[in-house]
Amino acid sequence: MKIILIGIPGSGKSTQGNLLSKKLNVPYLSTGHIFRELSKEHTKLGHEIKLVMNAGLLISDRKTLKIVSDYLSRAQYQKGYILDGFPRTLTQAKEFKNGIDRVVYLKVSDKEILWRLAYRDSQGREDDTLLAIRKRIEVFHKFTKPVLDYYQKKGLLIEIDGERTIEDIHKEIMVHLTHGKR
Ligand code: AP5
Ligand code: MG
Repeated sequence: MKIILIGIPGSGKSTQGNLLSKKLNVPYLSTGHIFRELSKEHTKLGHEIKLVMNAGLLISDRKTLKIVSDYLSRAQYQKGYILDGFPRTLTQAKEFKNGIDRVVYLKVSDKEILWRLAYRDSQGREDDTLLAIRKRIEVFHKFTKPVLDYYQKKGLLIEIDGERTIEDIHKEIMVHLTHGKR
């Protein structure tokens, strides 16, 4: 099963992605996590990624597409994956050729997000400053919202109310995925 998780920063993509991965026994992959690891490397690429992420902006489509396709070519992802945080732009969505079964959109308001991210244990995430959070929210509306329309038109989008308990959201996603409901 090939599943994409889309949502505004703090909407619960990683929380739900990890739960789904365990439940469905499908490997989980987060582009944010990949980029955070790369940003720790003392290389030109690592330095560039760190600067872009800390400002709350997006890594270029070219770099993102290359990194994601390199990861997904590994043996463990051949049968399926739960992809958290990709695609985030129309270009990424259109260029992505790996096939997708469902796109789960976790819908959460900006107000709820500001509250959640201000209080989460950010585990050293340098993009959890108020300035970067605001930029990440703005970037989501500008670049990622069109991706939702793109998948809606393809009939792949499942919209989930992300402002309920983690368990309720997980259950609803499972119902959609296992019963083919959209
Ligand atoms: P990424 O790591 O994906 O971060 P993000 O989109 O900003 O989202 P977060 O990880 O902050 O939140 P989340 O939706 O995973 O929510 P979580 O489960 O943690 O990306 C980081 C950066 O990498 C980007 O800004 C960009 O620079 C770069 N990048 C990544 N992908 C890219 C791409 N494709 N192209 C270009 N650049 C890319 O939950 C948040 C908090 O809320 C937690 O404390 C959690 O416990 C809590 N919570 C979760 N669910 C609930 C609930 N139902 N009720 C109450 N609290 C909840
Ligand atoms: Mg996350």
